[in-house]
Amino acid sequence: MTRHKLYACLVGALLLSSSLPAIAADLPSETAAERDARMEWWRDARFGMFIHWGLYAIPAGEWQGKPIGGIGEWIMDRANIPVDEYEPLAGQFNPTEFDAAQWVRIAKDAGMKYMVITSKHHDGFCLFDTAATEWDVVDASPYGKDLLIQLSRECRKQGLKFCTYYSIMDWHHPAQYRGSDQRYNPTKMHADRKTEYMAFMKQQLKELLDTCDPEVLWFDGEWPSWYTEEDGREIYAFLRKHKPELIINNRVGKGRRGMEGLNKGDQEYVGDFGTPEQQIPATGLSGVDWESCMTMNHTWGFKKNDHDWKSTETLVRNLIDIASKGGNYLLNVGPTAEGLIPGPSVERLAGMGEWMKANGESIYGTTASPFAKTPWGRCTQKTLPGGNTRLYLHVFQWPADEKLTVPLKNKPTAAKLLACGTELGFAATDGNITVSLPAEAPCKIATVVALDIQGEPEVN
Ligand code: GLC
Repeated sequence: MTRHKLYACLVGALLLSSSLPAIAADLPSETAAERDARMEWWRDARFGMFIHWGLYAIPAGEWQGKPIGGIGEWIMDRANIPVDEYEPLAGQFNPTEFDAAQWVRIAKDAGMKYMVITSKHHDGFCLFDTAATEWDVVDASPYGKDLLIQLSRECRKQGLKFCTYYSIMDWHHPAQYRGSDQRYNPTKMHADRKTEYMAFMKQQLKELLDTCDPEVLWFDGEWPSWYTEEDGREIYAFLRKHKPELIINNRVGKGRRGMEGLNKGDQEYVGDFGTPEQQIPATGLSGVDWESCMTMNHTWGFKKNDHDWKSTETLVRNLIDIASKGGNYLLNVGPTAEGLIPGPSVERLAGMGEWMKANGESIYGTTASPFAKTPWGRCTQKTLPGGNTRLYLHVFQWPADEKLTVPLKNKPTAAKLLACGTELGFAATDGNITVSLPAEAPCKIATVVALDIQGEPEVN
């Protein structure tokens, strides 16, 4: 080993062993109890609305008469549209049908507790009034009004938490340049302009805090190699300094393992929760906060020809599956250029709302299932006063013998159908609890049985 290499190794080892606490000192310090308090509303919420909205809703998946593959909000990259040909879209953006109160009402009626909307996606166009660029809805579009202020006010009025998405990668900002002639992604950074871009981001993020006061900052587009974990820490610390109770996803730094969205695990990374994308982890993850973001069809941003919608049953069962594994479900809508949430999304959300109205108790404020697997469906739980437990048994497959077997050694104390309150018979034998069910499933999507037991679950 050369002296130079040996030195590099030593420095590397030192960095690994000693740099974490040193760097961590830049981050706001927080006890476990303080962190729990900060995360509490988010953990209880379990269900939120993702909104991808921007200029890409105008071409809606078609460019120069041709359908463009891939997700709608990527059309600038996928159709390889030069900046000066994309820019005129701003002049056409006039969402006269937009009604903040209605959007928030749709989310609220679905049982959602928070809303995360794109403040700026990869195309750089801002839905809020920023002084950092004119590439925003107020300065560049005929609509001319800040969309996020309207939504944040309405969220506050109707009792939803308002949150914003922000893309670090920016195909429009001159500090960044295209990865190749064919694609924008991943962008590269002009070496002498990174400081300028970091300042630009901070200015915009501060503007968002000042004008809309979001509860979560949901970063994305962190993958270009010019952006580092150090940068992520800087942004994270900056934001929490200005708003200590803010929650920030893991895409603020470089810890995300691909679409699985969880921590790479090779070192500590900045960020408060993992972000699985279009997938649900196979099992619960103990001690990890995470949120699966998913679409209802195949795109985030509106595409006029994507009509392949998931059923309401699938969406409700996804929500249950996620809650049973201790995560949150961030379900996307892609509004049209006119400002309407597509009809098929609205219908499905209303269906989910119906189920949530009757069964929401089995989702909000619950924790992950004590069971690795249950053949009939999923389970969530809540601690009752006195250290007892209520289990919510979500039955997907109705047992033909009308008996629900729950592998628990505890003493059962009560069982009922959650939606209607009908009491159910139960018995405890050989380390199993058996609940007697009616012959027919009262709810085909998922019937919830609330089962109370003494103490904490002791799985057989
Ligand atoms: C991806 C895409 C982006 C979308 C996001 C949602 O990172 O680049 O278009 O906003 O996923 O999680």
